[in-house]
Amino acid sequence: MSRHVVAKVGEIASGQRKIIDVGGRRVGVFHSNGEYFALLDRCPHQGASLCSGMLMSLVDSSEPGDYRISRKSEMLRCPWHGWEFDIRTGQSWCEPSKIRVKTYPVSVEPGADLVKGPYVATTYPVSIEDDYVLVEI
Ligand code: FES
Repeated sequence: MSRHVVAKVGEIASGQRKIIDVGGRRVGVFHSNGEYFALLDRCPHQGASLCSGMLMSLVDSSEPGDYRISRKSEMLRCPWHGWEFDIRTGQSWCEPSKIRVKTYPVSVEPGADLVKGPYVATTYPVSIEDDYVLVEI
């Protein structure tokens, strides 16, 4: 697995996504409340561009008339037939045990850690023996 720079922090607003071609795949990178998630942009149902679907919150209900809204912008609805997926896990909400969309690890790192520059000076071991400084080349 290789690593790819896909965006600068701040480029993807919270609740939004960026769809890109990376490593030969089309991938959606989502930003939700300071966290980032990446999914393959292909719905496991019939192949729609899943990552261009609508982002929604999770709605839980224990009984009719009682419901709770949570996890703002973490549920993704496929634009073709409305199947819903959790952007954290890729798990389908309609058939969680069987259907899942591929997810990829995402991290945020300082630019200096990613690009160290092309020029590196050659170094050699140096030691001191008695009154002499020695360099091993
Ligand atoms: S192609 Fe996504 S739900 Fe059918």
